[in-house]
Amino acid sequence: MTAATPAPDEPGASNPAPGRDGEQRYLIGDTLFLRGLELGDAAWATAWRPSPFPISARQAEEQLRKLVPGQQGRRIARLVACRRDDGRPVGSVLVDDSEATESVVVLHADPALGPRGADLQAEMLALVVPWLSAERQRPVVRLATDAGLAPVMRRAEALEMRPAARLRDGVWRDGALHDRIFLDLLHPAWVERLGDPGPGIAEAGEPILSPRAPAPRRDPDAALPLPPNALIGSERLALRPFQVEDAATVTTLLRREPDASFGHSRFPYSPIAFSEGFGEIGAHDPPEELELAVVLRETGELFGEVGLYGIDWLARSAETGSWIYRAEQRGAGYGTEAKRLLLEYAFDRLGLHMLWSWVKSRNPRSQAALRKQGYRDAGRLSWTNFGPDGFEDARMFDLLAHEWRGG
Ligand SMILES: CC(C)(COP(=O)(O)OP(=O)(O)OC[C@H]1O[C@@H](n2cnc3c(N)ncnc32)[C@H](O)[C@@H]1OP(=O)(O)O)[C@@H](O)C(=O)NCCC(=O)NCCS
Repeated sequence: MTAATPAPDEPGASNPAPGRDGEQRYLIGDTLFLRGLELGDAAWATAWRPSPFPISARQAEEQLRKLVPGQQGRRIARLVACRRDDGRPVGSVLVDDSEATESVVVLHADPALGPRGADLQAEMLALVVPWLSAERQRPVVRLATDAGLAPVMRRAEALEMRPAARLRDGVWRDGALHDRIFLDLLHPAWVERLGDPGPGIAEAGEPILSPRAPAPRRDPDAALPLPPNALIGSERLALRPFQVEDAATVTTLLRREPDASFGHSRFPYSPIAFSEGFGEIGAHDPPEELELAVVLRETGELFGEVGLYGIDWLARSAETGSWIYRAEQRGAGYGTEAKRLLLEYAFDRLGLHMLWSWVKSRNPRSQAALRKQGYRDAGRLSWTNFGPDGFEDARMFDLLAHEWRGG
């Protein structure tokens, strides 16, 4: 490379960086500014797209055309961080406003910039947090970040963000696993009105070394045959992928739900949407999420569901969820039996390393089930949504593969 050749992270003649709008009046920092995505950003996808897998400019443009309007409809937006002096994209901030009370912020810096990226992320944070809290009046601004990025952590502290929950080994960076931490900034007007719930991290606990429902092993001699397409089975239950034909059964069962206290509350979902989703299972390989039907092994009756969501194949982590459809069958150990199958599948067959879960604070049964299964309390996220007494909180839990195996 000669002195006249632009370095790979500099704007070159072949891929000129989208220019900066000299009229922009806000979200401008010392070295960068934040703006909405433009089609010209397709040529700089590695800089703003937080995926380790590269993408061609043509594919990036196609995705931008589909993704940006779709996300905007769900109140999610990725803002591109651009250098002030030449407009070159250097990272991005995802702002997820899809829940009523919280703005969740996730930062990304161009990996080509190396360790400087953490300082850029800190600058992005300093722009976006006051904008969301003091201008957009969001009750909670929540940062989800890599706990090992010192400049980001220092900036979050300077912005008076407080640790809420910590998921062990939730991020893969630079050849090692790092904790994923959630930091909250609660709006002062709501703190004054509702009182200060305190930092959620105070409610994190130690690993549960002797869970009451320890790592099980399936009974290889169980006599009953597995239903068609099953992945794994216990004495009473089996897990299999959903089929299009399950959509009508699931939506009918959901309409009969007597309890409104858990998850995202009741909703009379349409079987059209479910059959579409079930028909798409397996279209992406490996998938980002995996929802499995829990069936009674003896009769094949659809009983509930368990799932892995937001699977991170590099950190080898995923969120878990479970649901026993009929209220009268809850509290009798079926949920734990189904979860045991999911844990064995996730840890032993998929090779995952950490699983986590969130539960509404007013869902003590689900929390009790998780602790019984060996999950550790990882903290509390404040004011995640509207609740009967104002805002309500959620509990976070995590579980490492070696803890599940028993050390
Ligand atoms: C969460 C769920 C999957 C758990 O499955 P399950 O079969 O009910 O769970 P288990 O019976 O194995 O364990 C539940 C535990 O909670 C305990 N429990 C029940 N009600 C409780 C309450 N109000 N407070 C505290 N503990 C409670 C039970 O005693 C049991 O513990 P034990 O075995 O030590 O007695 C199931 O209850 C369910 O589908 N709930 C509705 C959907 C839901 O909440 N999903 C999770 C959303 S995050």
